[in-house]
Amino acid sequence: MGVIHPDITLAETLPSGYYNDSEKYSSLLEKFASTWSFIGLESMLENDNIVPVTIGDIPMILTKSESGYHCISNVCTHRGMILCDKKTTSSTISCPYHGRSFSLSGEFKHMPEFSEVKNFPSSADDLPSAQVVNWHGLLFASFSTDETFEQYINAVEQRMNFFNFSKLVRVEELDRLHKVSANWLLYVDNYLEGFHIPYVHKTLNSVIDYASYQTELFDNAVLQIGEGQEVRDCFEIPEGHQDYGRNIAAYYWWIFPNLMLNFYPWGISVNVVDPLNVSQTNITYFGLVCDSSKIGVGAGGELDTVEHEDQWIVESCNIGMESKLYQRGRYSPTMEKGVHHFHRLLTE
Ligand code: FES
Ligand SMILES: [Fe+2]
Repeated sequence: MGVIHPDITLAETLPSGYYNDSEKYSSLLEKFASTWSFIGLESMLENDNIVPVTIGDIPMILTKSESGYHCISNVCTHRGMILCDKKTTSSTISCPYHGRSFSLSGEFKHMPEFSEVKNFPSSADDLPSAQVVNWHGLLFASFSTDETFEQYINAVEQRMNFFNFSKLVRVEELDRLHKVSANWLLYVDNYLEGFHIPYVHKTLNSVIDYASYQTELFDNAVLQIGEGQEVRDCFEIPEGHQDYGRNIAAYYWWIFPNLMLNFYPWGISVNVVDPLNVSQTNITYFGLVCDSSKIGVGAGGELDTVEHEDQWIVESCNIGMESKLYQRGRYSPTMEKGVHHFHRLLTE
């Protein structure tokens, strides 16, 4: 049997070593490269051609050329220099170390002082690339050919088919960068249960109906549904949809391993959990709005307050994970299905 028992009523939670051991941390990051990763928004390339991004801990560059979007390695094929550390409008990628240059799709173009080098250039001198998909203005990349993008996004695509994706506009005032002093797993664990809402988020608790809070599991995703107290702050769901007739204030989607798509009647808050090292994590929010008249109300109203309350929790648990007197706990079968599912996906 694996680390996490498949039966939640018998299972113990992830051992504390997963949260504070550097080797475990590195091996978990490898999982990022085995699936699709959110790498940015189409709108980020409106004015620039080159944007540095990461897939797990792999430095990459997102580019836009005439042939479309590309996600290519940010490491020079000569001696390993990082090619770019900020976004630019440049139409070539030039290495700041010895001047090797590449096209926006990663093909080797030129290298000074290499005319005598035999069998050069070869395909090994091009920058390795990942495939890129543009989904309603959200860009995703993958190295793997095992899982298609359709398989990856299927659960969200099916359930949210009534959502007005075509109206989405990036609103940068809603963007945030939160630096959290905790292991990234703690942030995801906390996101995946509504159990803590009445204890930690008093304001949020007053707008959502805790009793009907619901968690659904999918192969690579978890959906949490918060029903609202006020009909006017809820989605208008068309007849024929499985959620028709329900007062849904928020669909909280998490997709393995580190992407959260929070759907509110005003739009989507895209949250990306970026591990920096074993005990530090960046949380980036991108705001995409389809109905600005609904910003600031309902479940997606006080996002900054909720975020700070959550950060206090995960930073405190990060200290707890260091204690010799804590190893692991148990799950609530009614409230912690999502956390159990995440831990199983991680340790499979
Ligand atoms: S490391 Fe890039 S040109 Fe030398
Ligand atoms: Fe929370």
